[in-house]
Amino acid sequence: MINNYEIDKVKFNRWLNIRKTTIKHLNFDLKNKLNFNLSLDNCHELDNYGISIVAEYLEISINKLTKEVPIPSFLISKKKDISKTKRPIIKDGIHFYNYYTLPTPKGYISPVLLDILCPKNKLPKLNNGHLEPAITISMGPNDIYARFSKKLNKDTWIKFKVNKNPKTDWIIGSSYFEPSFCTHTYSRATNGPGRIISYTTRSNIENLLSTKLNKNSYKNFYKISKNKIINRTLLKLEIETKGYSLENISKRVNISLKTIKEFFHNKNKNLSNKTLKNICNYINSDINLFLKTKFNEDSVGKLYFDYKKSIKTIRDFKSYCVASIANSKRFPDLSGYFMKVSNKKSQIYDLFDSKCCHYFVTGGKFKFHLKENNKNLSRNVGEGDCLWVSAFTYHGFTGNGSLLKISDGQNINYMEKIEMKNTYNFNNVLKRSENDMQNWGYDEN
Ligand SMILES: [Fe+2]
Repeated sequence: MINNYEIDKVKFNRWLNIRKTTIKHLNFDLKNKLNFNLSLDNCHELDNYGISIVAEYLEISINKLTKEVPIPSFLISKKKDISKTKRPIIKDGIHFYNYYTLPTPKGYISPVLLDILCPKNKLPKLNNGHLEPAITISMGPNDIYARFSKKLNKDTWIKFKVNKNPKTDWIIGSSYFEPSFCTHTYSRATNGPGRIISYTTRSNIENLLSTKLNKNSYKNFYKISKNKIINRTLLKLEIETKGYSLENISKRVNISLKTIKEFFHNKNKNLSNKTLKNICNYINSDINLFLKTKFNEDSVGKLYFDYKKSIKTIRDFKSYCVASIANSKRFPDLSGYFMKVSNKKSQIYDLFDSKCCHYFVTGGKFKFHLKENNKNLSRNVGEGDCLWVSAFTYHGFTGNGSLLKISDGQNINYMEKIEMKNTYNFNNVLKRSENDMQNWGYDEN
């Protein structure tokens, strides 16, 4: 089936502005191809073929011009809807997992729920890992094993535990953050069933690593980064890209040439933050990109967070009680918490986040509330139901129950937050950009 695309006039106008061309000029150049006098008011009438001609003319892919499926404020899937997404996975000759998908907007990557079926007496076969970072939570009802390498040791063979204490069991189990290409697999640790929720989200460097660089650039980048610390490689390149030599830096920042050369060649030689700041001030670059960052992780790069550690983070938060799950500064977009709902109010809209999020109802029967364009919505939710909520959306829960919440950056990500911080007069940009139909500043007639 061929999709019928429709031009989005705001996107179309933006690309006319970016290409510094006008509708009049475009119509003139395409008069033998389009057979249609295009305007911003009639562009939605153009068929797929016409859109492809305009996209080719503007040297962009079709999806830069066409309407997207609108992102909803929330999605809800009942337990029975989730069970309909079940698909068995055969691995190592056995029925290894059942996969279920949690609700998410079209085009988004979604968390998955897995039944762990590999029996306890069989060493589970590893996967190959994946670029996308992930958070995984042991959801019970029983403990399972998690394996992270061919060689087994305390970091690579773990009893992935479930919290059995009835006083705190809304904190369902242990969790861990998994970095790029960390191999992993699971088996049962008992004769009973075990489940996990795994959120493998989108990687912010996916495009860079797949399509943006040509083969020659990629190969050279790999070569110069090899055995080096990446933020130092980037600083050295930044210095040279802006037309400075290490000799210039040495003289102007007052450090010996030997010291600065050693810093770029030897991982064990350091520069003080003050010197780095002086270098960045001299070349007028953002020091935050180049500062040394420490990450909390083990020998395979993962950050394991036992449920007992989660229990230590129990705190009151707005109308709820929450406890953190594993999260890492390596990928701030992924975070979450266990949540206990216990209030008698009829409506609450006290949750408002800078990221979109998934909720998995882990216990109870209670109510979900959301405000959308001054309309108040309420839905009943119960154990096993799942929700997705957009960023910057007032919502809340009333009644008695518990949830697992996992947030991610697919709605608005860490890189975009850095870019916003750097954008001049951002609030003005935010105001102006919504449905912006202004041209780049030429006379229309
Ligand atoms: Fe995975």
